[in-house]
Amino acid sequence: MSNSIEKYKDYMESAFDLWVLDEEWEEFFGRKPLLRYHSMKYCWDYVISKNLKRIVELGTSRSFVDGAYEGCNTNDTRYWQPTNPKVWDWSAGCFTRVIGECIQGTDMTLDTLDMAQAHIFRSHYMTKDLEGIRYAVGMSEDFLNSCEEKIDFLYLDTGDVTPVDFTAELHLREAKIIIEKDLMSRDGIILEMWLVKNKTRTFQIMERQNCQYHSLKKTDGK
Ligand SMILES: C[S@@+](CC[C@H](N)C(=O)[O-])C[C@H]1O[C@@H](n2cnc3c(N)ncnc32)[C@H](O)[C@@H]1O
Repeated sequence: MSNSIEKYKDYMESAFDLWVLDEEWEEFFGRKPLLRYHSMKYCWDYVISKNLKRIVELGTSRSFVDGAYEGCNTNDTRYWQPTNPKVWDWSAGCFTRVIGECIQGTDMTLDTLDMAQAHIFRSHYMTKDLEGIRYAVGMSEDFLNSCEEKIDFLYLDTGDVTPVDFTAELHLREAKIIIEKDLMSRDGIILEMWLVKNKTRTFQIMERQNCQYHSLKKTDGK
């Protein structure tokens, strides 16, 4: 088992540095919030402490590079740089790669699902050297409705940061299925993507981060 949470800590901690200024965090949250490293570490330590095995990610890793770099959200495999994690899509999470690495040499499994065939193609490409990962194309609600085995660690990461209402409603429907079908194991844990309702410039920029870095340049400074 590798400790990839620690290995990639600095990338997770600085994932939003390209997009959000410290004063913007301050303005919106009153402080710079703890970022993904802390939630990932919390969950992973918990998974280990409870000897959990079955991990499910709804919404797979979909880009070879962060939105700041050319090649974001394309199928062109030349943009995947496995030995240069600096350019990976840390602001989206890289959960498939990070947890995929963590489960190596164990009997844990990771199911990663996405509605977009292209996104599964990319996450599969980025993790093709790893074992124990199953990839599926489909809608999250259909997946949950047909789920037969209990889930130990569920990452709810479907949808985008904006439009927030749309994604929040999707997560609510997913949560209802999880409860009604009693899908989590007794010690199971759920990690949900943050959803923040806002109209600030910061988040307008973040909304564009999966488009093209040109958009940021146009938007930034306004
Ligand atoms: C933010 S990305 C996931 C990022 C990924 N978990 C990571 O850590 O890198 C969200 C993904 O959810 C997918 N998605 C959105 N709605 C969905 C749905 N209803 N069912 C399945 N996938 C969905 C999108 O296609 C997109 O690839």
